[in-house]
Amino acid sequence: MAFITFEGVEGCGKSTQMELLKSFLEKKGRKVLSVREPGGTALGERVRAILLDSKQEPVDPWAELFLYEACRAQLVKNVIRPALEAGKTVVCDRFTDSTVAYQGFGRGLDIKTIEGLNRLATGGLKPDITFLIDCDIEVGLERALSRIKEKKGAREDRFEKEDLAFHGRVRDGYLSIAANDPKRVRVIAAAREIASIHEEICGCL
Ligand code: TMP
Repeated sequence: MAFITFEGVEGCGKSTQMELLKSFLEKKGRKVLSVREPGGTALGERVRAILLDSKQEPVDPWAELFLYEACRAQLVKNVIRPALEAGKTVVCDRFTDSTVAYQGFGRGLDIKTIEGLNRLATGGLKPDITFLIDCDIEVGLERALSRIKEKKGAREDRFEKEDLAFHGRVRDGYLSIAANDPKRVRVIAAAREIASIHEEICGCL
């Protein structure tokens, strides 16, 4: 499996699992590149700061969608494809499924349009496998917010400020993506020990 993505609601624990998987694969001698969306390029990190800034003017859902797709086009072209072509394994924290879940199911934008834009931004690149870390939204949000409190000066981003109904739609969206593409998307229950989740993920590869 060369291109692996992690997905899930806020605070689901995907970043921890991604780091554990990276070390596991590296111990097996694989060269691994880990990236995140939005981000992973100079342009992407700057747009990420705009996208997550909770103090700015209200962002139109279509403007938001185009910004995510712009970050993705830059990341795929300049970072992910070259790494895959060089024989590396790429592990990505969020990818196209996030846009379907957040902008499609969460914001209510047309899913077929989003899928079309995803195809344009990625040039048709799809993950070989996606781990959906499925987490109760209240548990996840509490974890995300307590992490912010630990970091001095950090504040909630625009998505952490959304209401529970929004996050519920995102979670349901993810589960529907998984149900429609069960070969690629593995649903991993988050309410367990970190080590046991890691073991299940490794067992899928
Ligand atoms: P992160 O905090 O997991 O790095 O993700 C950043 C936020 O961006 C998260 O709240 C989900 C959101 N997001 C979208 O709404 N659409 C997208 O396409 C992506 C990649 C992320």
